[in-house]
Amino acid sequence: MKVLLVNGSPNQKGCTYTALSEVAKTLNQHGIETEIFQIGAKPIGGCLGCGTCIKTGKCFMEDTVNEFVEKAASADGFVFGSPVHYAAASGMLTSFLDRAFYGKSALYADKPGAAVVSCRRGGATATFDQINKYFTISNMPIVSSQYWNMVHGNTPEEVIQDEEGMQTMRTLGTNMAWLMQCIQAGKDAGIAKPTREKKISTNYIR
Ligand SMILES: Cc1cc2nc3c(=O)[nH]c(=O)nc-3n(C[C@H](O)[C@H](O)[C@H](O)COP(=O)(O)O)c2cc1C
Repeated sequence: MKVLLVNGSPNQKGCTYTALSEVAKTLNQHGIETEIFQIGAKPIGGCLGCGTCIKTGKCFMEDTVNEFVEKAASADGFVFGSPVHYAAASGMLTSFLDRAFYGKSALYADKPGAAVVSCRRGGATATFDQINKYFTISNMPIVSSQYWNMVHGNTPEEVIQDEEGMQTMRTLGTNMAWLMQCIQAGKDAGIAKPTREKKISTNYIR
């Protein structure tokens, strides 16, 4: 089983990476393979809603989103990490998630997801809520921890000093491994994935 952990910061080895690495280390200790996927430091455009990805399976924009979507198909779980930028996820991660999820819920359904946020001081819970919304519209079980999944610090060294935050990351890794093992045990025992009704899509008035 494999978890893809997405670093939504342009800082490849910054605070968000430090938090994600702690989750990854714990997952590895429980026998789960991990990959930290960097969205990178080049601009990521927002979704134009053009529907190209739905028709062709690929976004016409040339950045890390297509690469991620390909990997997502074979992943068994996801952790999306973001630095807090003005009490929200980074603009780049927001654009990334919009395009990685739009019209692609099937890639994520029934696979556990978790949000991780990193901030200097404030806006962490708003950012956490924002990221969790991608999971709750995609039939994904959400993995929680002993506290909301956040670390505090402006540098990786400061994040490491946030002992409660780092423990929260380890607990998240432990909980995620357990949930994934339970899902696998269910599969092995012949428990089928949920069958769902054909989706009704209304715009409230029609
Ligand atoms: C544009 C920008 C906006 C920020 N806004 C906030 C904020 O609202 N609250 C906060 O606590 N920290 C804020 N920060 C600080 C970062 O969230 C914090 O340093 C984070 O841990 C950096 O993570 P990284 O090293 O993975 O990029 C901001 C940083 C930047 C660059």
